[in-house]
Amino acid sequence: MMSDSTNSFELILFGAAGDLSLRKLIPSLYCLHLDQRIHPEGRIIAVARRDYERSDFLDIVKKALVKHLNKDLFNEETWTSFSKRLSYAQMDITDPSSYDTTLKHFLNRPEAAKIFYLATHSDMYGTICQHLYSHQMLTGDARVVLEKPIGMDYQSAVNVCKEVDKYCNEEQIYRIDHYLGKETVQNLLALRFANSIFEHQWNQRYIDHIQITIAETLGVEQRAGFYESAGAMRDMMQNHLLQLLCMVAMEPPAQLDAESIRDEKVKVLKALKPIVGDQINANVVRGQYQEGSQHGQPTLAYRQEPGVNPHSDTETFVAMKVEIDNWRWAGTPFYLRTGKRLPDRACEIVIQFKEVPHSVFELQNPASMANKLIFRLQPDDGIKLQLCEKRIGKGMSVKPVLLNLTAEHARKDRAPDAYERLLSDAIEGNPTLFLREDELLTAWQWIDPILSAWKQSGSRPEFYHGGIWGPAASTLLLARDGRLWQENH
Ligand code: BG6
Repeated sequence: MMSDSTNSFELILFGAAGDLSLRKLIPSLYCLHLDQRIHPEGRIIAVARRDYERSDFLDIVKKALVKHLNKDLFNEETWTSFSKRLSYAQMDITDPSSYDTTLKHFLNRPEAAKIFYLATHSDMYGTICQHLYSHQMLTGDARVVLEKPIGMDYQSAVNVCKEVDKYCNEEQIYRIDHYLGKETVQNLLALRFANSIFEHQWNQRYIDHIQITIAETLGVEQRAGFYESAGAMRDMMQNHLLQLLCMVAMEPPAQLDAESIRDEKVKVLKALKPIVGDQINANVVRGQYQEGSQHGQPTLAYRQEPGVNPHSDTETFVAMKVEIDNWRWAGTPFYLRTGKRLPDRACEIVIQFKEVPHSVFELQNPASMANKLIFRLQPDDGIKLQLCEKRIGKGMSVKPVLLNLTAEHARKDRAPDAYERLLSDAIEGNPTLFLREDELLTAWQWIDPILSAWKQSGSRPEFYHGGIWGPAASTLLLARDGRLWQENH
């Protein structure tokens, strides 16, 4: 069991009745409470517009915990003690007077750090910060956590940032990308920078290519309102996949502090080769799921999902070939893909090393024998290394084997959800795993020409049946270069 945090806090959760809060944020706070990793006096003030009594809201939260947490984590005793931390503030966040009449009433511990977590649409961030500021709530070490996506393109992201910057210092702003809180992503840093054996090989001389996949079996669920205007490019590629790419590709930072790591990540984003004009069709594939089946069950087409326009051209799948123009990576492509309604839930980073220059073994498919380092973020996280070994018996043929590099004890421990780590960092005031403004804007700047070209050309995503690995063009993207996507199951 871990020890309590030393910091007392008041965490004010805007958008508390929304999907993200009920599915991820409140369950993560419950787990932090269960493991005694937050201060016993820490309070959570759930803010939403709906006119619930506190007891109604607690019922909703309890149901969400039962639904979204592993069975062994939920128990009545912990729920009873956790629920004492929760208050419900019903308010209209656009109404300045409600900050005085409602919110202030809940913030009654001057010594507690104030963490304002904004899990609303990013259009609201400026307004909320303005009202918090004018009611003197952003003083001292108050922090504001901003959920992604911030903006829907470069210009709107600049606008949101400008608004928020009027009321908060950069040090107060914690821009979240929950993929950075995943245990294996931090383990990637440890593996790269605490061991010398891999880092010497970590470049274009030894690495053939890198694949990053975030595959989901889920469809759009109840989130059409948001997803219709976002799509996979804004929802996943602009943030999660580019952040993972940065973690793989960045130079060793001088120190492990927030600024050193962010500096290195920004350098990677600035070195991304622009994908513009004709290169967009050649290097970016987008798809949309049609009817299909998963585990023997029929699944709806995206256009049939509740709230989705029946003629929608929103992409639910994106695959890209990305290059980094610097000494370390020139000539080594990164293939990124993400999609909904794919056959498996899997998130993997595969570092594929070059084949041996001359093989003395008889190999039917030399590429399949290449060494691979595989970082699996989910569902079962861990690190594996693919090596070749001799087949037992006569002759000298070889076969690939996977070595598990995750220590025995790590496999037994419960891997905390990414949001647990990030919420506890925000409460503690540790910004290392959060994004700086220039990172965010540089990522948008790179993605923007692709989004504009799609809009201007009127081109459409290619269809794929639910339950397969995306459209055919995704396979061709690699096949053209003589490569294959790693099988994720
Ligand atoms: C969110 C996206 O950021 O990440 C969702 O908005 C997606 O569309 C989710 O489902 C995936 O996160 P995880 O941690 O479940 O892989």
